[in-house]
Amino acid sequence: MGGSINIRPAPVPDGLPKNIPAHVAIIMDGNGRWAKSRGLPRLAGHHAGVENLRRVIEGCVEDGVQVLTIYAFSTENWERPQEEINGLMSILEDVIDRELDELHRNGVQLRHIGRLEGLSPLLQKKVVQAMELTRDNRKLILNIAFNYGGRDELVRAIQNMIHAGVAAETVDEALIEKYLYTAGIPDPDLVVRTSGEQRGSNFLIWQSAYSEWYFPPVYWPDFDKEELRRALWEYSSRDRRFGGIHTGREDYRA
Ligand code: IPE
Ligand code: IPE
Ligand code: MG
Repeated sequence: MGGSINIRPAPVPDGLPKNIPAHVAIIMDGNGRWAKSRGLPRLAGHHAGVENLRRVIEGCVEDGVQVLTIYAFSTENWERPQEEINGLMSILEDVIDRELDELHRNGVQLRHIGRLEGLSPLLQKKVVQAMELTRDNRKLILNIAFNYGGRDELVRAIQNMIHAGVAAETVDEALIEKYLYTAGIPDPDLVVRTSGEQRGSNFLIWQSAYSEWYFPPVYWPDFDKEELRRALWEYSSRDRRFGGIHTGREDYRA
């Protein structure tokens, strides 16, 4: 069975649940293991991951998700072998070169979150051009977290607040949010991490404070539209309380 790790999942219900998460964030993990399980080099897994991303973007548009944030390269991924890092950089470049026009035609607004200045000047230029071209698109906001780290984001926010001369008494949660990469974007409702690992790995640590987490046991290249639907159904069964006692959501499995 393709990419499943060890369990046979229940069938996905037909159609769509009523409450679709406005913002889905995905830690696209497991490319290396996907490749290894096929006797392929890790980079082949990353290429398969990009192919899959195209399908998932399509699925998000079809299912009415408004914001998709994907974790593509963390501030810790610089620890990987140089060859793999180079491969990941050129994948981002190729994606912009090859996919930008179609994403633009489909109404996708591209945004980058993370330290842009850590990328090569050419890559920085391509990312900025892609954001400018698509800035008025409204069908789906696609945040690409590339050279992103949640702690690094907070460090940068604090530095920028100090540079701006913000007075201590005026600091509150709303102000901090204005200094994050995700300023103006609602927090993720659902965070998905593929591959079976169950940790956050420095992703959206502020923004995911009240997100629902979901850990499907498939490698990222195998997280297809059906798996996305499964994630949406799972989300719809959760009772989000935000510290209160509100209940009453219907459980689709009941
Ligand atoms: C996720 O897949 C992609 C990136 C981190 C860039 P991995 O490369 O982490 O794959 P595994 O976890 O080794 O299988
Ligand atoms: C998280 O995956 C980063 C991305 C998916 C881009 P990693 O594979 O780098 O995370 P760890 O090292 O297993 O926690
Ligand atoms: Mg990994």
